[in-house]
Amino acid sequence: KKISIVGVPMDLGQMRRGVDMGPSAIRYAGIVDRLEALNYDIEDLGDIEIGRPTKKSQPGDSNLKNLNEVAEANEKLAASVDNVIQNNRFPLIFGGDHSIAIGTLAGVAKHYENLGVIWYDAHGDLNTSDTSPSGNIHGMPLAVSLGIGHEQLVNIAGYQPKIKPENIVIIGARSLDEGEKELIREKGIKVYTMHEIDRMGMTKVMEEAIEYVSKGTDGVHLSLDLDGLDPHDAPGVGTPVLGGISYRESHLAMEMLAESDILTSAEFVEVNPILDDKNKTATVAVALMGSLFGEKLK
Ligand code: ARG
Ligand code: MN
Ligand code: MN
Ligand code: MN
Repeated sequence: KKISIVGVPMDLGQMRRGVDMGPSAIRYAGIVDRLEALNYDIEDLGDIEIGRPTKKSQPGDSNLKNLNEVAEANEKLAASVDNVIQNNRFPLIFGGDHSIAIGTLAGVAKHYENLGVIWYDAHGDLNTSDTSPSGNIHGMPLAVSLGIGHEQLVNIAGYQPKIKPENIVIIGARSLDEGEKELIREKGIKVYTMHEIDRMGMTKVMEEAIEYVSKGTDGVHLSLDLDGLDPHDAPGVGTPVLGGISYRESHLAMEMLAESDILTSAEFVEVNPILDDKNKTATVAVALMGSLFGEKLK
């Protein structure tokens, strides 16, 4: 596997500053050495350039915060990811807040008829302009990728939708807004909440999830929000929710994904070093990527 890293220092999809330093924190925690030790060909493409918001950047017709800047950054990211895949390399994206999944998926899904998506997260990120309690775009990327939401976001990279509801599995959910629950019911989206993880165990959840996203798909993307983990294990996130997936369960999940060899792209988002405890969360992200890329198998 040849891997290309793209950093996205974006913090405009939510209200807590600092998550723009996520890519640096992950690099500082040693990701390149860690993957090179596994004999991958690694290329670090550096960071996407993110514009800063101005006073007049909020368009009057929308409650979405920093809409233009988020849209612009995601257009750039989509082009970069598209290019990585054209070069037959595996895109590995570092956020940044989760709004960057809009651009990642826009770049990836161009190459797949039926892209499977594993959304590892405390949240559903299935809000729209109408249902969002916050106006924060990081709570919307999964809906946007389904073609539901503000047209400026939905049409990034010039096509929509990017993905289909039957190809998505959400793992670790424990904070879903009313509108998100409705959308999940309406679209029949597969969700393993913390309840299922507690009841069935992570082994069974991942066995089922892997089978579910492999069926009828021609690629699988992992979007891992560090707040999917319990805040004890990953404290450096902007919207922590108690009662999350443990560090060990997460390693198991990554190892099972490595064994299954189904992934064609991945992103790790919401690492905020300002809110962190001595770069613990970036260190966890790097350790999980070690497992995801097969440390146990080599
Ligand atoms: N559901 C809440 C919202 O829409 C929180 C979203 C948190 N998303 C995230 N990627 N951390 O505002
Ligand atoms: Mn989240
Ligand atoms: Mn998220
Ligand atoms: Mn705990």
